Amino acid sequence: MKADLLLGLQWGDEGKGKIVDVLAPSYNIVARFQGGPNAGHTLEFDGHKHVLRSIPSGVFAKGAITNVIGNGVVLDPVLFRGEAEQLEADGVDLHSILKISKKAHLIMPTHRLLDAAGERAMGSGKIGTTGKGIGPTYTDKISRHGLRVGDTLRDDFKARYEAARDAHLRRLEGMRAEIDNEKLAETEKEWFDAIDYIRTFGLTDTEHYINKALNDEKSVLCEGAQGTMLDVDFGSYPFVTSSNTVAAGACTGLGIAPGRIGKVYGIFKAYCTRVGSGPFPTELFDETGATIRNIGHEYGAVTGRERRCGWLDLVALRYAVMINGATHLIMMKSDVLDGFDTIKVATAYRMPDGTVTSDFPYSVGDNAEGAGIAEPIYDELPGWKTDLSKARSEAELPEAFRNYVAYIEKQVGVPVAVISVGPDREETIIRNL
Ligand code: GDP
Ligand code: IMO
Ligand code: MG
Repeated sequence: MKADLLLGLQWGDEGKGKIVDVLAPSYNIVARFQGGPNAGHTLEFDGHKHVLRSIPSGVFAKGAITNVIGNGVVLDPVLFRGEAEQLEADGVDLHSILKISKKAHLIMPTHRLLDAAGERAMGSGKIGTTGKGIGPTYTDKISRHGLRVGDTLRDDFKARYEAARDAHLRRLEGMRAEIDNEKLAETEKEWFDAIDYIRTFGLTDTEHYINKALNDEKSVLCEGAQGTMLDVDFGSYPFVTSSNTVAAGACTGLGIAPGRIGKVYGIFKAYCTRVGSGPFPTELFDETGATIRNIGHEYGAVTGRERRCGWLDLVALRYAVMINGATHLIMMKSDVLDGFDTIKVATAYRMPDGTVTSDFPYSVGDNAEGAGIAEPIYDELPGWKTDLSKARSEAELPEAFRNYVAYIEKQVGVPVAVISVGPDREETIIRNL
């Protein structure tokens, strides 16, 4: 059996959580492969809303589905515990359905301090991170100083923790960060209690578990976090997250060989959003952007920050489809555009030097005032002016909307397999999976 992937094609928050929850009943295993609690994946059903950060979005699906936190994930024990206890309070028997990789890296309290100090030091050039210690934890992983979940089983774990913490404190001192030692000691206690809690899940060699499952013809859905334009290699560097959010990240983040990857579901909104700093060519600073934000409730699931909004960017979308080898597209939040007379879609960029490109360039420039940024060249399509949220089948979709979908399929060269018309599980139209 091959493993399928679902990942974001834009700047995150495309609706990955919702669709993983919708698709999960057809899989035996759902596995997160990268990122950490910088993610906020929202699921809605039966009038309730749940936000997941580190735990895969297959936990609510009916059936015996195992959820895996892979080696590519960075885990904050305290946030994980909060999330897990909330799920158990909601009636999810998490201990029987969740497996955690021994090779996942641990976010330490001082990683969060380093994240904050790093952002402060950059002033107006800051990344606008989620403040969850993601960058410093991946930095330690790559520089071979990290602590892994499996290390918690070692007798010298505490000493290793203290050595890592002291190295962080020396760095923080160099950054002139003020450390509240009493608060840090309290946080550490909570952190070690949460480590004991993590160990109640039993720790797993998840790469063996997943490969054996595939050998036994079990089906696996890999769940991405963030989005392609936030990928550390292919996103708008340095305004990116610190992991590989693209399809290749599922191979390294779970131990699945490239030949074992099956379908690649690339998910995108019918428009674009971005949180934090960094270039965003189709960003709208006018009333239209505010309207999209209000109707789409475009505020961060984790930080509550306003999301920047803009028209769909096909230059970036085609690039994302290429990098990921997306085989199926999933279009989200179509209903948010219901009221517009016309809808714009960027098909190419006019670069600051006057050249026109439809291939995503090395740099799109900068949104900052005075600096040049790629200027989108738009096509304008008729709006559908119909409430899509009531539609449950393709036949109920208005013609103007179907034309919008067909236009995107033609521009991108990949079929749209699923259309989402509202946040609820039920508000989903499956075309051809
Ligand atoms: P994720 O990080 O990719 O899982 O996405 P988020 O959960 O951060 O953001 C997506 C937001 O849009 C959530 O608030 C969802 O409840 C909501 N949502 C998902 N699909 C739709 C849709 O088709 N229409 C509308 N109006 N909202 C949606
Ligand atoms: P999901 O999985 C949207 C953004 C941050 C910031 C940059 C780096 O819900 O789609 P980090 O804390 O990762 O070092 O921040 O990445 N970012 C996200 N934006 N959705 C996310 O996750 C994000 N995770 C990180 O806003 O610009
Ligand atoms: Mg999100």
